[in-house]
Amino acid sequence: MEHHSNDLPWRAHARVVHIGILDDGRLDEDDLIRLLKKYWKKVALVAVTGASNVTGWVNDINHLAEICHEYHTQILVDAAQLAPHRKIDMRAAHDPGHIDFLVFSAHKIYAPFGSGVLIGDREFFMHGSPDYVGGGTIKIVGLDYAHWDDPPEKEEAGTPNTIGVIALAESLLTIQKIGLHHIADHEKKLTSYLLEQIHRIPGIKIYGSSDPQVVENRLGVIAFNVQDLPHALTAAILNYEGGIGVRNGCFCAHPYLKALMGITEEEAERLEKQILANDRSQLLGAVRASFGMYNNHQEIDQFIQILRTIANGTYQGKYVLDRQKGEYHPRDYHPAFEKYFHL
Ligand SMILES: Cc1ncc(COP(=O)(O)O)c(C=O)c1O
Repeated sequence: MEHHSNDLPWRAHARVVHIGILDDGRLDEDDLIRLLKKYWKKVALVAVTGASNVTGWVNDINHLAEICHEYHTQILVDAAQLAPHRKIDMRAAHDPGHIDFLVFSAHKIYAPFGSGVLIGDREFFMHGSPDYVGGGTIKIVGLDYAHWDDPPEKEEAGTPNTIGVIALAESLLTIQKIGLHHIADHEKKLTSYLLEQIHRIPGIKIYGSSDPQVVENRLGVIAFNVQDLPHALTAAILNYEGGIGVRNGCFCAHPYLKALMGITEEEAERLEKQILANDRSQLLGAVRASFGMYNNHQEIDQFIQILRTIANGTYQGKYVLDRQKGEYHPRDYHPAFEKYFHL
């Protein structure tokens, strides 16, 4: 159920074995246990997402940590989606449910792009070479040797993103002030409301849970398709006619999307060939609506209203497909962007 960024980087360092998912997109804990038994003593790390950026499912990370520690392996949690929406308890090192490593990105938590956080035991980072080497990582360098600095400097190569880090700290303090429980409560209400409303529109397929009552262990991330309309067309109409920004496609989680959509290997192969031939006219995927703490019920009403016009075919524009990009654009609409943005 991982974002590619918690999958592809590991492939360069070790053999990656993927944990299966259940039919509704949740992580299959039994499969995790099966794999831990099968690869007993060979598992370097279990890397799981705290919350899915596709279905919004929230993993019980402390419980997963207990399982991993029982099998003497460490756990890393990708909290890019979790940190802005739910309180995280890494727990003390002696607790079997403690999280060994936690990562998240600044730009998902209302800070600017370009910085992120990796939390782990200082002792762990005392050993070995840094991931990235360069200025700032060393105590002393000779022509054929280098003594690494202590963490965290050792792991922070290059000129630091000072402004980014200050902004991230400010963002975290602001979230702390607002209270993550308030944020979570607000987003749960929005999610429940959207799911209730969306059920009134015929022909919407939601990936993952569509139950308005199930909001404790899921985020306000809702991936869907409208009948058999291309996801890129649905997204374009929401964008151009509703002023609503949604993401469409596979959300940097191709294997997860394929599994959720029940795509066969043959079908996947056919579509992959098309993409490699630069034809993205039939890109696999869905549309994703997602909430942050700033969203409100009125915005959901507007979203539902436009979605209804898409489902019953009464939307206004005529859209043309750019086959290379796999995007739809209104035929007779030429926004004068230079009016708003000029250098
Ligand atoms: C679950 C998850 N993990 C990781 C990432 C990657 O974050 P970044 O773009 O900062 O590498 C994302 C971003 O979309 C995400 O949703």
